[in-house]
Amino acid sequence: MAQLDTLDIVVLVALLLGTLAYFTKGTYWAVQKDPYASSFANGHAGKAGKSRNILERMDEQGKNCVIFYGSQTGTAEDYASRLAKEGSSRFGLKTMTADLEEYDYENLDQFPEDKVAFFVLATYGEGEPTDNAVEFYEFMGGEDVSFSEKSSDEKPLANLKYVAFGLGNNTYEHYNSMVRNVTNRRR
Ligand SMILES: Cc1cc2nc3c(=O)[nH]c(=O)nc-3n(C[C@H](O)[C@H](O)[C@H](O)COP(=O)(O)O)c2cc1C
Ligand SMILES: *[C@@H]1O[C@H](CO)[C@@H](O)[C@H](O)[C@H]1NC(C)=O
Ligand SMILES: *[C@@H]1O[C@H](CO)[C@@H](O)[C@H](O)[C@H]1NC(C)=O
Repeated sequence: MAQLDTLDIVVLVALLLGTLAYFTKGTYWAVQKDPYASSFANGHAGKAGKSRNILERMDEQGKNCVIFYGSQTGTAEDYASRLAKEGSSRFGLKTMTADLEEYDYENLDQFPEDKVAFFVLATYGEGEPTDNAVEFYEFMGGEDVSFSEKSSDEKPLANLKYVAFGLGNNTYEHYNSMVRNVTNRRR
């Protein structure tokens, strides 16, 4: 933590895919589903009564932009906070940050058209997720590499409009593989 982490090769990979998806997925959104349909679908009890349903939480707090972070030592979390501040001060977004561990993911596919999700994801070890992103990563298909053969409606989050940032250090073989794999999985 002490070397937090200006020295880090903190690489912000603003994935074109994510941005592209953001601007092109619009047509999918004509079909509105019940945004609360899969509340608590993972079977987690909410922490101190807080909802694990991100759409519910955003509505409660009047937010239209959520910045999820997968972080081990705080760098990605810091970036998420900075993005939240910038998004609010420069673009007038109503932003919140969210620890990936504290929410369910099933209903991310039903994200309303007028809201946006960011993911700020660090990579560790042999290209692994941070502890707080393990469940999310498994939800996204984990180590399963057969996703390229799957049709888009078999993929999680095929309809989500999002922007993804990766934090990594390019001396590692699996440079930024967390954000790479997560974005591959949902195309
Ligand atoms: C033990 C360790 C392993 C790491 N493994 C990888 C890796 O495989 N690929 C990568 O791109 N970055 C890797 N990194 C770099 C981190 O992703 C980077 O430092 C990031 O900023 C950490 O974010 P965090 O503070 O939010 O956890 C590693 C860093 C450490 C300390
Ligand atoms: C990147 O990782 C290498 C190998 O672990 C380490 O020596 C280096 O200090 C890291 N770079 C930064 C800027 O954190
Ligand atoms: C991403 O996929 C590659 C190739 O399938 C794999 O080697 C790597 O471990 C994966 N990374 C993560 C975060 O699972």
